[in-house]
Amino acid sequence: MFPSKVRLLRSKHTLASRLVLGIETSCDDTGAAVMDGTGTILGESLHSQKEVHLRSGGIIPTVAQELHRANIQRVVQEALQRSGVAPAELAAVAATVKPGLALSLGVGLRFSQAFVRQHNKPFIPVHHMEAHALTVRMLHAVSFPFLVLLVSGGHALLAVARGVDDFLLLGRTLDEAPGDTLDKVARRLSLRKHPRCSTLSGGEAIELLAKDGDRRRFGFRTPMGQTPDCCFSFAGLRNQITMAIQKQEEEEGVQEGTLLSSVNDIAAAAQHTVAMHLAKRTHRAALFCRTNRLLPPDEPTLVLSGGVASNQYIRKVLTIIAERTGLRLLCPPARFCTDNGVMIAWNGVERLREGRGVLAPDVDVSYEPK
Ligand code: KG4
Ligand code: ZN
Repeated sequence: MFPSKVRLLRSKHTLASRLVLGIETSCDDTGAAVMDGTGTILGESLHSQKEVHLRSGGIIPTVAQELHRANIQRVVQEALQRSGVAPAELAAVAATVKPGLALSLGVGLRFSQAFVRQHNKPFIPVHHMEAHALTVRMLHAVSFPFLVLLVSGGHALLAVARGVDDFLLLGRTLDEAPGDTLDKVARRLSLRKHPRCSTLSGGEAIELLAKDGDRRRFGFRTPMGQTPDCCFSFAGLRNQITMAIQKQEEEEGVQEGTLLSSVNDIAAAAQHTVAMHLAKRTHRAALFCRTNRLLPPDEPTLVLSGGVASNQYIRKVLTIIAERTGLRLLCPPARFCTDNGVMIAWNGVERLREGRGVLAPDVDVSYEPK
């Protein structure tokens, strides 16, 4: 065998053997995954609190904390067991430390720090949004820099990803996130009572009903039409939708909490307006990148990720924007768009490879909700 081939095999072997455990608890999902250094998922486990929070009409931080506490040990153990990896074999442990709900982040961080100290492993603190942004690199060969649109229940942002820990922020939401808006609209429409929606998140329920709706029956204005930047705003849109719902309730002579006959049309119009707002801001960001040569001329890429990115209508609209601006659009599959331990493990793998933000087990780390 040639020496270079031996070196290649050896480096592949070294990469593969750099096993990382990733732990996610920033919001309402307790996730863990074990991954090797090439990005192969060896084992994972996810406990979703969605059902509980749907029943209570929103996330109550103390309830989320309690559920993370009750599940984290089991979830981590399951991921390890499924991977067949013992803690001693891990190269590092990565965990989300920002941003998110303080009480939720605290559970994951305390667990992770106790774990790395017990097993004497390096600790890699992870930024939740950076992890969403880079998940695509686990699935496709995407080199830096690329444009990324992240849309979830907690965030809306446009950024140029320039490196594992180097992001140029082009725009963010000035008030609420699109997933939060869709969740609140779904609650105002009492979609929990809808036979097809009782177990779905607000965004999923709206996507499902919108398929049978006529979006033209309600003409919501796209936000920030007069503001020439790449930021987002969804609070005003939610207000428009709430007013339309109130008007419909009056016209149908029903109380708040009753399912409206026009629910599909409202869902379709709400989804369409959210998609248009995301599309217009992304279009502006793409043009800004072109003018300022922020993306490579060869295969410039737009990545769409975060929970809201699992919406097929939003994906379709962004496909059109990507085509018009000469960008290749990449979206991780839905299961990698929502919160999970895999994306945190992958961020750990990327950071470990580059030696960025890898800490000794005894270094004290604090979480940062904002
Ligand atoms: O990324 P994620 O799992 O958690 C956060 O970090 O927020 O995103 C959850 C959000 C929720 O607001 C949910 O309603 C929304 O993503 N979502 C969707 C869809 N699936 C989940 N929004 C629109 N369409 C969907 N299909
Ligand atoms: Zn998320």
